[in-house]
Amino acid sequence: MADKAILEVGGQKYEFPIITGTENEQAIDIKALRGLTGGLTTIDPGYKNTGSCQSAITFLNGEEGILRYRGYAIEDLADKADFLEVAYLLIFGELPNESQLEKFHNDIKAESHVDEDVKKILDGFPKSAHPMGVLSSLTSALIAFNPSSVNVDSEEDMYKAIVKVMGKFPVLVAWALRKRTGQPLDYGDNNLGYVENILKMMFKKANADYDLDPVVVNALDKLLILHADHEQNCSTSTVRIVGSSHAGLFASLSAGINALWGPLHGGANQAVLEMLEAIKEDGGDTKKYMAKAKDKSDPFRLMGFGHRVYKNFDPRAKIIKKAADEVLGALGVEDPILDIAKGLEQEALNDPYFVDRKLYPNVDFYSGIIYRAMGIPVEMFTVMFALGRLPGWIAQWKEMRENKEPIGRPRQVYTGENHRAFKERAER
Ligand code: CMC
Repeated sequence: MADKAILEVGGQKYEFPIITGTENEQAIDIKALRGLTGGLTTIDPGYKNTGSCQSAITFLNGEEGILRYRGYAIEDLADKADFLEVAYLLIFGELPNESQLEKFHNDIKAESHVDEDVKKILDGFPKSAHPMGVLSSLTSALIAFNPSSVNVDSEEDMYKAIVKVMGKFPVLVAWALRKRTGQPLDYGDNNLGYVENILKMMFKKANADYDLDPVVVNALDKLLILHADHEQNCSTSTVRIVGSSHAGLFASLSAGINALWGPLHGGANQAVLEMLEAIKEDGGDTKKYMAKAKDKSDPFRLMGFGHRVYKNFDPRAKIIKKAADEVLGALGVEDPILDIAKGLEQEALNDPYFVDRKLYPNVDFYSGIIYRAMGIPVEMFTVMFALGRLPGWIAQWKEMRENKEPIGRPRQVYTGENHRAFKERAER
């Protein structure tokens, strides 16, 4: 393996080290570029070739469809672990033993109260507000109720901040739904497991018991695990870059939620379902929508297809597709949307446009179908993604602060006007 790269500019040669990761990924380390070359920079819109950090949290190999958290295969974690164990793994680096997990859960429960005054902020939103906007605003509002900054050099302080967020965030998620559906707010039940409690907080009616369905609990647990981290994606990079200015954890997470909201990122799960609905309403003609997706003059894209990194298959999509069949079967739900999704997938997998561009179904293609079968409204889908991604964001923020990474501040190549004389208003 090469250990250095030579760059030649105007006849002058510069040498840069190549660093190698534990999975033998290699990167040219250009930290010294500007200093050595007298100000030369690199340009890489969308950061398609740029590594922003070295990270020990998540490994993914897009060519081979591999995804691992802290070395553990996503398939094993989805099959054998629960979401709280996976959260602990991502944040602290190892799978917890029984007593570590119990302590983690107890500490989270002790912090799961959200100040009553936050309800007043929630009250101010119209019922029609998108729950992602509500969630990011309430997460940001938590700063005012938890103003002390975290001493990142103190393990205890870091731990406290983490359990606080893990405790309060699901309450905000549930409140965002209850606001939307006009239900009184609920604090859940500390006797329940983490995921069971989330479901109860979301769905319990004021005048009735809420019976937990193990099929639903298991499905949500799996979905949250599959979304828990995905290395330096748009929202995670946002969390890291906002946190790099030493803005607090709540502020960094709130920014991450907004980044996730976009339809090219986490918002795709809502967009997929809306697309499948539209196809159904339009008579189920998948060919028509395939043609639209391929037409360069049409902005329509097949939502839930394609990925910046996965160019073979998205391992999460494989697990979710199987889970969708199981969950719908177990719940006795017959959803024509699932058939449309399968039909669309089949056509895309055999279409040269999609094959040549290596466009495969991603994690969002089937997740919405499961959420829908669980009774979660479509506007809440991206909120559910945020709930799953929470431990990943926390782990990445923690790593960035502990590694004492510098503030994120990219350069640019200026393409605007050169210096010009000021024009008085009357002369313009
Ligand atoms: N439908 C039709 N054409 C597509 C699609 C699609 N979904 N995705 C990419 N292409 C085409 C694109 O037009 C381009 O074609 P050409 O080379 O002829 O110009 C080529 O494929 C490469 O696309 P790109 O936009 O340069 O690729 P990217 O890596 O910048 O974008 C993506 C990745 C995920 C944003 C994109 O595939 C997309 O918009 N997909 C639909 C939205 C979606 O499902 N997002 C969820 C991503 S997974 C979950 C998450 O990360 O949050």
